[in-house]
Amino acid sequence: EKGGHDYFMLKEIEEQPAAVADTLRGHFVDGRIVLDEQRLSDQELRDIDKVFVVACGSSYHSGLVAKYAIEHWTRLPVEVELASEFRYRDPVLDRSTLVVAISQSGETADTLEAVRHAKDQKARVLAVCNTNGAQIPREADAVLYTRTGPEIGVASTKAFLAQMAANLLVGLALAQARGTKYPDEVAREYQDLEAMPAKIEQLLLGMGPVRELARELAASPAVLFLGRHVGYPVALEGALKLKELAYMHAEGFAAGELKHGPIALIEDGLPVIVVMPSPKGRAVLHSKLLSNIREIQARGAVTVVIAEEGDETVRPFADHLVEIPASPSLLQPLLSTVPLQVFAAEVAQTRGYDVDKPRNLAKSVTVE
Ligand code: M6R
Repeated sequence: EKGGHDYFMLKEIEEQPAAVADTLRGHFVDGRIVLDEQRLSDQELRDIDKVFVVACGSSYHSGLVAKYAIEHWTRLPVEVELASEFRYRDPVLDRSTLVVAISQSGETADTLEAVRHAKDQKARVLAVCNTNGAQIPREADAVLYTRTGPEIGVASTKAFLAQMAANLLVGLALAQARGTKYPDEVAREYQDLEAMPAKIEQLLLGMGPVRELARELAASPAVLFLGRHVGYPVALEGALKLKELAYMHAEGFAAGELKHGPIALIEDGLPVIVVMPSPKGRAVLHSKLLSNIREIQARGAVTVVIAEEGDETVRPFADHLVEIPASPSLLQPLLSTVPLQVFAAEVAQTRGYDVDKPRNLAKSVTVE
């Protein structure tokens, strides 16, 4: 049942192209994005003037990625909040606020309570969930299901990728309702999304060197992750995977913050994994990150660079280079996350840990 793998998580990493494809399927019909359950009228959707995304853990990271796309496509302000913090700080909510609750299990206590708080304040709630009939989608006004099938590994992998895809569909649904994107633009964005499973598939074929690198670096006391723009939440997710699976000290940073503190951590032999934006799509950020890598390499860090295929500019500064297929910038996290999952799983296996059941963790956190 583990499909020939030692652990479910490794099988679930392999299932990601299907998880994303299945999540997209049926959500673009006759030129329009459709949700699974829609108890909000078109007018109510049009009246939304602010979005909060609430979630925990990896689901929260998928929300951070979504913020870039939703703001860009809809021109609505989007705030992403840890569900455990949300209702304790008296957020400003009303009927024109949309609260997007993202939860694989649909049962996470903090996310559920955030939904209830939002509803008490008359906000509209849209759930992105992987579990049919779970409590969070039952209480929401609209639902988009990720369709990955059950995720057994405690560390989220295929659900995370599917959430990122689903969140983008939510962004397109809002853009469509508000008219901030023409139908042909929505169709183009959807086609770009549809092209992603094949790219993930292609990427997965080349993970051998990442596993080898993980074995090489498995004894490191710590690993840092750097990214910018949508690569920043990917860096956070890479660090979370390494913490929970390999019990290794790992931190993700926005690369622009390096000089404001984290660069003091750089020392000889410290592995730093950098998620590079596309040199064409994000030329300015790309050149800034390039100088960051140069700086940390000069201070002795072992640089592991995740970059778009054909990005030759990074080679001189990459002690290890992991290439990912080219993609539109906002969709890159669907690719750049994958080597980080493989890396964390392999480090954990090398260290002799149970990849599916990391210590102290439960698959769904139903107590606060
Ligand atoms: O079921 P949920 O998506 O609400 O769960 C949220 C987090 O508990 C979950 O993503 C957790 O961080 C995972 N262990 C991450 O791998």
